[in-house]
Amino acid sequence: MTKRILSCMQPTAHLHLGNYLGALKNWVDLQNDGAQCLYGVVDLHAITVAYDHTHLKQATREIAAAYIAGGVDPSKSTLFVQSSVPEHSQLMWLLGTMTQLGKLERMTQFKDKAGKDKERASMGLFSYPVLMAADILLYQATHVPVGEDQKQHLELAREIASTFNHRYDAEFFTVPEPIIKGEGARVMSLRDGNAKMSKSAESDMSRINLTDDPDAIVKKFRKAKTDSEPVPESIENMNSRPEAKNLITIYAVLAETSPEAVINEFGGQGFGTFKAALSDLAVDKLAPITKRMNELMGDTDELDNILAAGARSAREIASPVLDEVTTIMGFWK
Ligand code: TYM
Repeated sequence: MTKRILSCMQPTAHLHLGNYLGALKNWVDLQNDGAQCLYGVVDLHAITVAYDHTHLKQATREIAAAYIAGGVDPSKSTLFVQSSVPEHSQLMWLLGTMTQLGKLERMTQFKDKAGKDKERASMGLFSYPVLMAADILLYQATHVPVGEDQKQHLELAREIASTFNHRYDAEFFTVPEPIIKGEGARVMSLRDGNAKMSKSAESDMSRINLTDDPDAIVKKFRKAKTDSEPVPESIENMNSRPEAKNLITIYAVLAETSPEAVINEFGGQGFGTFKAALSDLAVDKLAPITKRMNELMGDTDELDNILAAGARSAREIASPVLDEVTTIMGFWK
């Protein structure tokens, strides 16, 4: 059976280096390996936290532009916006009836995002992982490439698929496999090697955005937190120094080499030299992506056409799957 890949990102803010190295870069490799790929911009997820409704449409386009600029080819992969495929929310309702509250309560991302005042968090935020399960199961995806932080949500999607199959005595849903690629799967903040790089972190200095210009990239790496020691000379030493490990990992993934090779080249040198080399490398890799994104955002007609065609292709898969689910569940039609 050929692999069917499904993955998505939220249009909550600009994409950053973590999104690129942890997800998008792998999406492109999978596409170029010949798998059938569907990549969504999940706008229904983005409204589970406070958002600017006057900007949502543009934010959605920007994520789609980043996919294409990063190497997703709309003639090979299906690129779509979640809200233009209504089957996502329809399936979510059905799956919600077989998802235990206790499991949702254990989701660490909900706990992080809801913060101390859980009572005031919305039902949308709480049930978000059920919508994510629907995103995946609706396409009978065999594999889902994501960063480490989505592992728990994916595990829940697998459980929901198995619950459905068991409850309705039907080997219907494909139980999806995660693809979490070691090195870039957890890119950390440039200000704190123990916190992940995130769109929502307050300081913009903590992340490299795909929209950053070369000057910003150089400045952010120069100011990135490090300890007072030189660049580690062994993996063991690197592993005990989170900030050093993060920068070495970023370098290795961008250069498509191993952390060992980076240590062989830079070990023992000062961080000033290493950070300059890292900035050069990052600018080299990211500048063409940023340029292409800007071009695509300059003429949104092309983007909108790609997304409209993508929605049609996505629905061709999604609609019969939902139809079959409702038949299995016994609905009148
Ligand atoms: P989102 O939009 O937060 O992130 C998009 C992708 O980027 C990865 N990622 C990272 N990888 C490495 N290091 C980091 N610091 C880092 N930060 C983010 C994420 O793991 C993700 O792969 N719930 C999802 C979106 C979603 C989805 C889906 C994903 C909705 N439905 C169905 C896959 C399949 C999310 O919020 O990702």
